[in-house]
Amino acid sequence: MDKPAITKYDIHPLLNKRWSPRSFLEKPVDKAALQRIFEAARWAPSSFNEQPWRFIVGIKGDKTWGKVMEALADFNQKWAKLAPVLVLSVGKTLSSKNNKSNKVFKYDVGQGVAHLTFQATEEGLFVHQMGGFSPEKARELFDIPDGYEPLTVFAIGHKGEPDLLDGDFPEMEKAPRERKEMDELIFEEKFGNPSGLF
Ligand SMILES: Cc1cc2nc3c(=O)[nH]c(=O)nc-3n(C[C@H](O)[C@H](O)[C@H](O)COP(=O)(O)O)c2cc1C
Repeated sequence: MDKPAITKYDIHPLLNKRWSPRSFLEKPVDKAALQRIFEAARWAPSSFNEQPWRFIVGIKGDKTWGKVMEALADFNQKWAKLAPVLVLSVGKTLSSKNNKSNKVFKYDVGQGVAHLTFQATEEGLFVHQMGGFSPEKARELFDIPDGYEPLTVFAIGHKGEPDLLDGDFPEMEKAPRERKEMDELIFEEKFGNPSGLF
């Protein structure tokens, strides 16, 4: 099943194709594709070039995958069990320059994930990000030191059809994608005042 973005203005075909499936095929993800995916994250921009992103990568069947799965919320475990790759994203909270708090570390890690998601789409793969996990459990399971914060988990894999999922998930998978209108998002002159661009 495809769920392309229905856009009013043309965007890059890979951005058009990307969505967040919960159904994944058993098919493993090619190692070379994973290498390119994390290379894409490595070359994302970041404030003061701090590169605060760290990724803990689990391949289904290995210890890391099992630990990431253990840290997930029940709701996410129910579908992410299909995912051949599960990754924990971790952010470095302090600046390497002066050891002071880096106010934008989460923004930068998110941008790293956006870049790798684009590359994954180019590889014919799909990424589904998750906030539903226990950062405390992840910290304990992976021995994450102070100064680093577990931020999200994401699944990477070949998209499957909705019928691979149990319970309500197939219906959720088929639900239309929704987005706010431009005038709720893009402003001019004053916050909340719709931009004349659209
Ligand atoms: C930071 C973040 C956290 C998310 N957390 C979850 C989650 O815990 N469980 C889940 O099923 N989807 C999660 N999602 C997926 C979003 O629900 C999804 O991206 C959104 O509905 C838009 O759909 P689309 O990605 O298919 O365009 C998360 C996405 C992001 C970016």
